[in-house]
Amino acid sequence: MINGETRLAGVIGWPVSHSRSPLLHNYWCRTYQVNGAYVPLPVPPKQLKTAVHGLVAAGFRGANVTIPHKEAVFHVCDRLTTVARRAGAVNTLSFDQGEIVGDCTDGVGFCDNLAAHGVSVMGKVLILGAGGAARAVAASLLDHGCDVLITNRSLERARALVNALGAGEVIAWEEWPEQLAGASILVNATSLGMNGQPDFDWNAALADGHEGLRVADIVYTPRQTPLLKAAQKRGWQTVDGLGMLIYQARAGFERWFGVLPDVDKTVFDLLAHDLNLEIIE
Ligand SMILES: NC(=O)c1ccc[n+]([C@@H]2O[C@H](COP(=O)([O-])OP(=O)(O)OC[C@H]3O[C@@H](n4cnc5c(N)ncnc54)[C@H](OP(=O)(O)O)[C@@H]3O)[C@@H](O)[C@H]2O)c1
Repeated sequence: MINGETRLAGVIGWPVSHSRSPLLHNYWCRTYQVNGAYVPLPVPPKQLKTAVHGLVAAGFRGANVTIPHKEAVFHVCDRLTTVARRAGAVNTLSFDQGEIVGDCTDGVGFCDNLAAHGVSVMGKVLILGAGGAARAVAASLLDHGCDVLITNRSLERARALVNALGAGEVIAWEEWPEQLAGASILVNATSLGMNGQPDFDWNAALADGHEGLRVADIVYTPRQTPLLKAAQKRGWQTVDGLGMLIYQARAGFERWFGVLPDVDKTVFDLLAHDLNLEIIE
């Protein structure tokens, strides 16, 4: 029941109706019997600053931030975490006695999901993509001490990413398949493989891979992407992108509602069902 003690949080986006964060956070509120509520907050770009200050004034604990505000919200924050600075984006705001603190939990969510699947986050990691998600993932892998190789269709963007991170190595897009022999993890952080995106010959691209290679995709629509299917055909371990979505949410929930939620199969199934994705047993 919502009452005067209810802790409030939400997700700011434009549009925001696609976000599964309200489903996830309100599920955790019920599971942990937290007196909390999490609401979708459709905020047009011009209203971003006013809206964030309004949430602070209204006593919200914080908010998630999604497309298209993840970079613009930098300028609304009083303080940024080191991770947010490195990731170049903010997806989690906490309001700490009036101070607006911006953090980015996408990269941590990605690495926590790998670890939860028994993948050691170490060694040489080849990242496909140099967009916003790739940057957060790369920053977190570097924090784990991984050697990061970055390739991107537009090479300039990969160079800019390595420059911004101050670490990592750029690989030409045509040459990434040759790097698989020495890699421990391959990550697809492009939108290739997402429903509606062009086909790509993953099977041919994986020819130089090996049995010990772990293959992760951050795309989760479909859940079993063409890359993951090609890797599974070779008998290699794969990790799908749905877990990243769930794990990135935990830190915000803990900050706003005071409980670090567990991630179990029920949560995966809840989101998979809502997104019309395959349920994995
Ligand atoms: N699992 C999760 O929690 C999670 C979180 C965030 C994002 N994602 C998913 O991650 C993907 C990327 O998101 P983003 O925010 O980083 O997007 P973004 O900033 O728009 O970047 C898109 C990336 O995909 C590449 N790309 C697009 N079409 C391509 C093609 N035909 N061939 C080769 N590369 C192509 C782009 O290369 P160019 O630079 O050459 O255009 C760029 O590297 C999306 O599918 C998104 O849904 C998942």
